[in-house]
Amino acid sequence: MDYFIESAPIEKLQCDCIVVGIYQDGLLTPAAAALDNLTHGLVKKIVERGDLSGKNGETVLVNALPECGIERLLLAGLGKKDALSAKTYRKALASAANGLKKTIVKSVVCCLAEAEVRGADLTWKTRQIVEVFNDSVYQFTQLKAEKEADSKLQRIAITASASEFSQAQSGLTQGKAIAAAMDLTKLLGDLPGNVCTPSYLAEQALELGRFDKLTVNILEEAEMEALGMGSLLSVSRGSRQPAKLIVLDYQGGERNSKPVVLIGKGLTFDAGGISLKPALGMDEMKYDMCGGATVLGVLQAAAEMELPLNVIGLVPSSENLPDGDANKPGDIVTSLSGKTIEILNTDAEGRLLLCDTLTYAERFNPDVVIDMATLTGACLVALGRVPSGLLGNDDDLCNDLIAASETAVDCVWRLPLWEEYQELLKSPFADMANVGGKDAGTITAACFLARFAENFRWAHLDIAGTAWRTGSNKGATGRPVPLLCQYLINRSQKA
Ligand code: BES
Ligand code: MN
Ligand code: ZN
Repeated sequence: MDYFIESAPIEKLQCDCIVVGIYQDGLLTPAAAALDNLTHGLVKKIVERGDLSGKNGETVLVNALPECGIERLLLAGLGKKDALSAKTYRKALASAANGLKKTIVKSVVCCLAEAEVRGADLTWKTRQIVEVFNDSVYQFTQLKAEKEADSKLQRIAITASASEFSQAQSGLTQGKAIAAAMDLTKLLGDLPGNVCTPSYLAEQALELGRFDKLTVNILEEAEMEALGMGSLLSVSRGSRQPAKLIVLDYQGGERNSKPVVLIGKGLTFDAGGISLKPALGMDEMKYDMCGGATVLGVLQAAAEMELPLNVIGLVPSSENLPDGDANKPGDIVTSLSGKTIEILNTDAEGRLLLCDTLTYAERFNPDVVIDMATLTGACLVALGRVPSGLLGNDDDLCNDLIAASETAVDCVWRLPLWEEYQELLKSPFADMANVGGKDAGTITAACFLARFAENFRWAHLDIAGTAWRTGSNKGATGRPVPLLCQYLINRSQKA
C-alpha cells in the first residue's frame, strides 16, 4: 500500500473515496463541512435523517456524487469532540479502514488527521492513520492455494495544509517505517514452524543487510560452543534444526555513543521438550519467536527512519522439541556467565536462550538492554492480552518505556522484581533452578534473567499475551514494535 500527504484543496482531490470525520451529535469536522458545501448539503442531510449520529466507530459509505466530482464518501463517527483520546481515535480509524477494505475502493483521501485528539500533534495523528490502515489490511495468505480476495486498497492520501506539510511528512515517514516493521514481524510470526526455522529467521535477518548502516552476522553452533553458551545450546540439542544467534548492528549514531541492545526470543517452535506441552493449542507455539521477529522489525524501522542512534539486535533462535538428546529434567548446564543451571522443567527454555544472550550483550558496552519474549503463560494469567508485562532493574529505563508505550498506544504494566522472589529459584545442586514453582511465574522468570543482567541497565518485556491473538482470528499482532520504535524515536530526539 502507498501512503502520502496531500495538500491540495478538497475540491481538487481525485480518488475513489474521501473519508471525513463527524463528531457526536452530528458536529462536522472542517473537511466534513467543506464536503457538505460541495455536495449541496448532503452530509448534513445524512446526519439529520439519523443515518449517522457521530458515535465513535460508526461509518456510513455514500455512493456516487459525480456531478460534484466525488465518487464516494465515507463518514466516520469520531465520538464526543472534547473526549477524543488516543485510543478512541485509533478505534475510529480502524472502523474506517474496516469499512473500506471490503469494498472495491482503491484510492482514498483521508481527512481524519484534522480531528482534535487530546495531547496529540499532527505528526502523531498522521502516523496513526498509516499504522491503523496498514494493520487492518494485513492478511496472511502466502500458504493458501485458494486465496480469499485481498483488500483492494492501494493508495491512502492523508490531507494536511501546506503549512503543516512537514509535520505530517514526519508522521508519514515514521508511520510507514513502523507499519512495514509490523508487517515483517507479523509475517514471521504467522509462518509455521516448518517454514520459519532458526535458519529461515537468520536468512530474513541477513536480508536487512541491504541497509547501508545495518550489518548482520550469524553465530553458528560451533561459534557458540567455542564461546561457552552451554545454556542456549542445551535447548537446541533436542532439535534437528541448528540454533542460530542473529546479531544485527545498526550504526546510525556517533561511533562512540553507547548502543541500545534489543534482545528477542526466537524460539521457532516450542513443544516444551521432554516436559512436553499438552496437545491442545500447541500450534500456537509457532509464535514463540515473536520477540525475535520484533527485534528484526524494529531494526528495519530504525534503519528506514535513519535514526541517529546505535542499536544492536540479538536474536537467539532454536526449536524446543523432545528427543533422545534433549534436555532432561534434572540436567545441569553451564551458562556463558559460568553460572550453572538445574533444568527442572525443559519447557522453561526461553530463559535458557536469553541468559546466554544477556551475557553476550555485555561485549557491546550497552547503554541499556531491553529483551522481549513470549516467556510465560503466567503473564496471560496475570495481565491477559492487554498490556505486555514490564520488569527491570532501572526505574528510569522502565519509566521511559512506560512513557513510550503511552504515546504509541502499545501498553505495558510494570510488575515488581523484588529480591524476595529470588528465593524461589534456589537449587540444592546448581547455582539456580530454571523454574520457581507455581507462584508468580512471570516475576520468577524475570528474576532468573536479572541474574544475568547485573552489569547494565536492563528491562524485560513479557509479550506472551500481546504478541498474538488467539481464537478464530488468531495471528501475530506486530506488538511491541510500536512501543520500541517510539522508545528509539524519543531517545533520538533527546540526543
Ligand atoms: N513459550 C512459553 C510461554 C508461553 C505460554 C507463551 C503460553 C505464550 C502462551 C514458554 O517457553 C513456556 O513454556 N513457559 C512455561 C514456563 C513454566 C514451565 C515455568 C509456562 O509458561 O508454562
Ligand atoms: Mn516453553
Ligand atoms: Zn517458549
